[in-house]
Amino acid sequence: MNRVITFGTFDVFHVGHINILERARELGDYLIVGVSSDELNFSKKKRYPIYNQKDRVKIISSLKCVDEVFVEESLELKLEYIKKYNVKLLVMGDDWQGKFDWVKSDCDVLYLPRTPSISTTEIIEVVKASF
Ligand code: CTP
Repeated sequence: MNRVITFGTFDVFHVGHINILERARELGDYLIVGVSSDELNFSKKKRYPIYNQKDRVKIISSLKCVDEVFVEESLELKLEYIKKYNVKLLVMGDDWQGKFDWVKSDCDVLYLPRTPSISTTEIIEVVKASF
């Protein structure tokens, strides 16, 4: 079985998120998603997500292109997760280009182009500006 893994916060779920998840799933036949914990998101982006990790896990788990979901506690644990879930391929959006090449000893890494013109941060800014 070709197992694929990807990671992300997936806060305020949008079309860019589903696009990358569907493309990742098409590259194999079993997709595992590491959803960043609330604390990890805070350390990366200096803000807590709008949706908490329990709700974000529930949303991602409900998608038909996703087979398994877990909470990602630390960026540095990527290799441990890759080994634990026995995956062949790590897929990330190209905003992460080159950042995870260090796991290439154990797994292929592919950076896919982001869906243009949409991001969680932008949605939050647009909503804030409208109040
Ligand atoms: N992603 C994508 N296209 C977008 C937005 C996100 O392909 N327009 C991908 C990212 O590259 C990543 C995954 O979706 O692999 C999860 O990204 P995440 O950081 O959760 O979403 P963003 O919308 O980028 O969030 P933010 O604006 O807070 O950075």
